[in-house]
Amino acid sequence: MNDKKWRVALIGTGMIANCAHIPAWRNLKDQVEIVGVCDIRPEAAEETARRNQIAWHGTDPDAMLAALKPDIVSVCTPNLFHQEMTIKALRAGAHVICEKPLTLRYQDAVAMYDEARKAGRQLFANQSMRFRHDFLAAKKLIDEQALGDVYFAEFNRIRRRGVPRWGMFHMQDQNGGGAFCDIGVHFLDALNWMVGNPGIVAVSGSTSDLISHLPHDVPPRLADSGAYAGVFTPRPYDPAEFSVEDLAVGTIRFANNLTCLFKVAWAINQPDEFSIRISGSRAGLNIPTMDLYGTANGFLTDTKPVVYDDMPYKDVTFNGHWYLFEHVLDVLAGRASFLIREDEILNVVAAIEAFYRSAETGREVRVDELEGVK
Ligand SMILES: NC(=O)c1ccc[n+]([C@@H]2O[C@H](COP(=O)([O-])OP(=O)(O)OC[C@H]3O[C@@H](n4cnc5c(N)ncnc54)[C@H](O)[C@@H]3O)[C@@H](O)[C@H]2O)c1
Repeated sequence: MNDKKWRVALIGTGMIANCAHIPAWRNLKDQVEIVGVCDIRPEAAEETARRNQIAWHGTDPDAMLAALKPDIVSVCTPNLFHQEMTIKALRAGAHVICEKPLTLRYQDAVAMYDEARKAGRQLFANQSMRFRHDFLAAKKLIDEQALGDVYFAEFNRIRRRGVPRWGMFHMQDQNGGGAFCDIGVHFLDALNWMVGNPGIVAVSGSTSDLISHLPHDVPPRLADSGAYAGVFTPRPYDPAEFSVEDLAVGTIRFANNLTCLFKVAWAINQPDEFSIRISGSRAGLNIPTMDLYGTANGFLTDTKPVVYDDMPYKDVTFNGHWYLFEHVLDVLAGRASFLIREDEILNVVAAIEAFYRSAETGREVRVDELEGVK
């Protein structure tokens, strides 16, 4: 874009906008100017604009897009508004970075990417955890055949108590689902990417919401539920509104005979866990410990590749956003192609949709049953 700055606007000014998007954009201030923010809660838009000296704020995304004609829009609303806001922004001529999960239905994801093509703009799905140094190292090890043929995986993302309470995460009609589509999606996306996006055949899963309905349960701390900062205008939390899952468990069958088990919880009487385990014919890898379980010279061998985090933003909260936004500007300048590909995200969204349909119907759901899957 030569020496002209990218004009950026944000839709939704809650935690992730304040804690991740605005800092990540401000880190790129030589190339980017934040020109406006909007939120259906006027106090949230106003507070965000005031804290960051942003000239325009309001409650109507259409008015903002028409008034400012931004080049790039960050979509930071609850999940069920991602599609609507993304399409509005693309039609207004902006490239879009949309928060995860892009959407919860396969056909909606297809519609969003189709709209981007029609508008001649780019849609960047914000699977920001791909930029973790250990995830990048795991991807390299798998690509270089350190594990051989991968046939079994597990991901476990357990918060003993970590229901997000500052927004609308716990409301089915705002977020579309709970723990699985909130924190599970990062692990599903990472695993799918690491193993080369082989295609997903079917998902079988079930959900529970017992803990979050208990009347006198222990309230989670903000950081334990994913908000390290940025909660300036929280929406009051009412447990009676809790209408999503706090536990998701199940199985994903990938097209290359890889089977994956998963457990994802916002609340469960079990210790916290953050792990992906991938087993191959040559070795197995556990992330994030980076232990490799293999054999050599007739012995079982445990090895541990030394994986330094020498990336520049290693001490920054939500640094994945910082790396991703920098990468987006490289993509827009034609210097790179986007790491998070449409075909990968379509498979991730298909797995999310199949999971929730399986939990609802109590049977395995094949991806080819979903509307829009050819
Ligand atoms: N990439 C990550 O690691 C990460 C982490 C946390 C949240 N997120 C995602 O970011 C999104 C927002 O999460 P959050 O924590 O900021 O939630 P939040 O509740 O703090 O913020 C959402 C904001 O959107 C506003 N909003 C709701 N409907 C709107 C509409 N129709 N138009 C405009 N504004 C609207 C709300 O008033 C609220 O201020 C979610 O999709 C979530 O999954 C991503």
